[in-house]
Amino acid sequence: QPRVRIHHLKQMKERGERWAMLTTYDMYTAAVFEEAGIPVLLIGDSAANNVFGYETSLPVTVDELLPLVRAVSRTAKRSLVLADLPFGSYQGSTEQCFHTAVRFMKEGGAHAVKLEGGSEMVPQVTKLTSSGIPVMAHIGFTPQAEHQLGGYRVQGRGEAADALVELAQEMEQAGAFALLLEMIPGEVAQRITSSVKIPTVGIGAGSECDAQVLVWQDMAGLRTGKLPRFVKQYADMRTVLLEAASAYMDDVRSGQFPGPEHTF
Ligand code: KIV
Ligand code: NA
Repeated sequence: QPRVRIHHLKQMKERGERWAMLTTYDMYTAAVFEEAGIPVLLIGDSAANNVFGYETSLPVTVDELLPLVRAVSRTAKRSLVLADLPFGSYQGSTEQCFHTAVRFMKEGGAHAVKLEGGSEMVPQVTKLTSSGIPVMAHIGFTPQAEHQLGGYRVQGRGEAADALVELAQEMEQAGAFALLLEMIPGEVAQRITSSVKIPTVGIGAGSECDAQVLVWQDMAGLRTGKLPRFVKQYADMRTVLLEAASAYMDDVRSGQFPGPEHTF
């Protein structure tokens, strides 16, 4: 099967075919999700809290994310590999943004990048797309701006809805190939989705987006504690792994493992 390209995603929107995106940070998950037919694999800056153990996505660096992007792009034969630009690596200027995105494309092997922000990011989106780098614009709740936004709060409510629809259109005009809509009312996501020709990918943005995304450890049930309302857990991998590790440990302690069949 040929590589998924940005025009395929646009065609799926035209045909009314929905698709799913997942985060991926390593070769096994990349291989499994590609086999499942997931067309876009995101190396999110959520690796900060899902791989590296930080409390937020803010501390993760380009140098930390690059090897994960490389692992996924080496593995994925068909899926489009999308890399997040981490906090502080693109907001400074269009030149800084260009330099970071080029590192993700050249060193990481990414096919596209994602960045967060409002109208102030339009020059960045224009610069990248005019340089041959496809960009997904992440709008609505943007976790890198958590402290500016006052925590994890739904964006685009009430009066703010019109501005968000306008921003979506601005990003489309700047050349973004898709929009990521995070934590906005379903009704606003629906307005945005019908007012742009590029696909919308929702997370906590209702059912009317062209696509959906989840962090894979949330989707597969590795995460503990209270889950955000927008997460649906499709497996209980934490229990599966816990039971496997415990059974292995018990076997070792009781002398059941290794058996004769494992011994040279
Ligand atoms: O970093 C991330 O995982 C994201 C999401 C929207 C899934 O940006
Ligand atoms: Na992200």
